[in-house]
Amino acid sequence: MLSPMRQVKHTSDQNEPLSYTYADRHMDQEVSKYAIPATGMDARVAYQIIRDELNLDGNPALNLASFVTTWMEPEADELLKETANKNFVDQDEYPQTEEIHQRVISMMGRMFNAPKECDPVGTCTVGSSEAIMLGLLAHKWSWKKRREQAGKPTTNPNIVFSADVHTCWEKFARYFDVEMRVVPLKKDQFYMTADQVVDYIDENTCAVGCVLGTTFTGQIDDIRGINDTLLKLKAEKGWDIPIHVDGASGGFVAPFVYPEVEVDFRLEQVRSINTSNHKFGLVYPGIGSVVFRDRSDLPEELVFNINYLGGSMPNYSLNFSRASSMVLLQYYNFLRLGQEGYRRIMTNIMDNAQYLEKKLIETGYFELLNESKYLPTVTVRLKDRELPTKVVYMLSDLLRQFGWIVPAYPLPANADDVHVLRMVVKENFSRDMAEKFAADIVKCIKKLGDEAQDFEKYFEQQKGKGRVC
Ligand SMILES: Cc1ncc(COP(=O)(O)O)c(C=O)c1O
Repeated sequence: MLSPMRQVKHTSDQNEPLSYTYADRHMDQEVSKYAIPATGMDARVAYQIIRDELNLDGNPALNLASFVTTWMEPEADELLKETANKNFVDQDEYPQTEEIHQRVISMMGRMFNAPKECDPVGTCTVGSSEAIMLGLLAHKWSWKKRREQAGKPTTNPNIVFSADVHTCWEKFARYFDVEMRVVPLKKDQFYMTADQVVDYIDENTCAVGCVLGTTFTGQIDDIRGINDTLLKLKAEKGWDIPIHVDGASGGFVAPFVYPEVEVDFRLEQVRSINTSNHKFGLVYPGIGSVVFRDRSDLPEELVFNINYLGGSMPNYSLNFSRASSMVLLQYYNFLRLGQEGYRRIMTNIMDNAQYLEKKLIETGYFELLNESKYLPTVTVRLKDRELPTKVVYMLSDLLRQFGWIVPAYPLPANADDVHVLRMVVKENFSRDMAEKFAADIVKCIKKLGDEAQDFEKYFEQQKGKGRVC
């Protein structure tokens, strides 16, 4: 039988009641790309054209490069559609949405173990970048106030963080005119320790940034050690230097996978924490949040009481209008999963990451940079250190042919001779996918070898050629 599309005569009449999507005239003409077209088109056709074009994108389910959530339940998808038309900033018009926002922040304050005597406050943002900027800005402001009260100059604030922070830390320093003091990585140590930090801080340090799960290797800084050092300095010199924890990736992993490790408000100097709810909060992009340990850590001058559309709304953000959906989806996940659900999902993905590690080691071609202990990321380099670094980039390219998206990159300065492949294991990455991935990467390696006719000979020839990329 012919498909309905074939049965319909091609028509260019827009008013034709029975015009099938692929038979519309727009399908045999170029659509407008750079200027708004003079006339419109049928809704189904516009939808189909865009949908078809997007088929050329990678498949989010196979995107092991990104930490960002690529799957939510159908009920969450429904809620998303139903709430996309509510402007999050219109608190006066949508008071219940704001009420839910406050609940989300309160739940996160508790998740980060704010002490009973504290009153944690915060806000949801579009992601961790905005959240980090808001957190650091508050600390810069508080530092300035303390210095003014002490009659000391306020001209040279600095922030201290390690070389493997996300680029948004550097952005903050430049946008908000704060000196950045970058603690370099060591050869085989991809996190920051208390001993290293001490050399970089002084009375002008507004905050120390500690990463809970780095983008590059998934490691965590020695947050407890750095806290103890700062407490000592407070007692000895009177410098009250806060820690801002960048929990973009680890913020939802730590509380459920290694709750006994103190990386949160249980540590006195940890005054603010950001997380990307669109990562392991398991919500679609873009939502992040910043939570302060106590109301007193957020200077009240930074909270704007805006008179807008007939009401007064407290607002601490860099942006203004956006959809309410993601905040509501975070609340959905909290209710739907509970702590038990988050614990199960996080434990599963950590187990699957470790399984993938094992599979990659078994291929004989890779070694781990570090174990997936703190984040479900698998970071490997070539076992044969004499091979040119180009090979990991070639593998990254070849994996694309199988649909897998896997980044290859060098580590930051001082460790930049190390070139890695990194896979982020997310909720939808099953054991079977791990098996398939490991099999595919072996095929890619063999392909590289076959193209050079003799695999062993090829790699033998490449040895000692040094860095190619
Ligand atoms: C450690 C860390 N901090 C901050 C960010 C920025 O997060 P977002 O994309 O939510 O702005 C990322 C993003 O990958 C990250 O890994």
